[in-house]
Amino acid sequence: MSILPHAGNGKVSVPDILSRKTLRSAGSSESQNKITCLTAYDYPTARLLDEAGVDVILVGDSLGMAVLGYDSTLPVTLDDMLHHLRAVRRGTQHALLVVDMPYGSFHVSIEDSVRNAMRLVKEGGAEAVKVEGGERRLELIHRLVEAEIPVMGHVGLTPQSVNAMGGFHVQGKSMDAARQVERDARAVEAAGAFAVVLESMPRELAAQITAQLRIPTIGIGAGPDCDGQVLVFHDLVGLTEGYTPKFVRRYANLSADITRAVAEYCADVRAGQFPSDAESYHSESELRERKVKV
Ligand code: KIV
Repeated sequence: MSILPHAGNGKVSVPDILSRKTLRSAGSSESQNKITCLTAYDYPTARLLDEAGVDVILVGDSLGMAVLGYDSTLPVTLDDMLHHLRAVRRGTQHALLVVDMPYGSFHVSIEDSVRNAMRLVKEGGAEAVKVEGGERRLELIHRLVEAEIPVMGHVGLTPQSVNAMGGFHVQGKSMDAARQVERDARAVEAAGAFAVVLESMPRELAAQITAQLRIPTIGIGAGPDCDGQVLVFHDLVGLTEGYTPKFVRRYANLSADITRAVAEYCADVRAGQFPSDAESYHSESELRERKVKV
């Protein structure tokens, strides 16, 4: 039995995402065809995002920082990703479900990398995998696509390269660096990826790449001219503590709401005001007695 929901009924597929580029290029209403993507790491969040109509749900390895409390994505394992992917799978009916290949799962032989990606599809129900890196991933992306695994590329700032890049810095600012990001994006497309994430780069560069590629670009910190946008869910709803990059727009402040709710609960318990009588069960004899009294 398949663990994927049936196609149709608004189910977003890889060809649907690809066709958004075609539709946008043909001059149809831009905003209608922009691709929306958000991260999710658990069942209730996936269910809410899916019901709200997001096109693509990404089980990102940002899991490591947003949920597991690491200071980078590097410690996240394939088993971590599988565990969270399965929960997200159970909450996702319509959105395309994409999962990150975590650091170390595709830095091994091509055979082992393909085997790892297959586990995400077979055991976790992913419909596509995301792989960080450009020119260096040409062969891997090609082999994954050959194995019927759709691939979303990811170029520009690639958080798994934090040590090599010396931090989380905006990429492609100089002429040379911009040319490299362009080459990376083109390589990802040539290898057969169906979309590419452009992370943290000047909007002019992202616009140029978007205009050059036949596959959709999905931007994060790459300006408004990409074919779609992605954000980390915890950033969007204000659950991230500390520094947030300037490209994050907060649509809610859940940290404040949760802190207030928990403080109120603690105060009510301590004051003996929770639970109330109406929030308590009663014995049958007590209920009988109360009815007589009334
Ligand atoms: O891991 C992640 O969540 C990502 C997105 C921010 C693109 O790679």
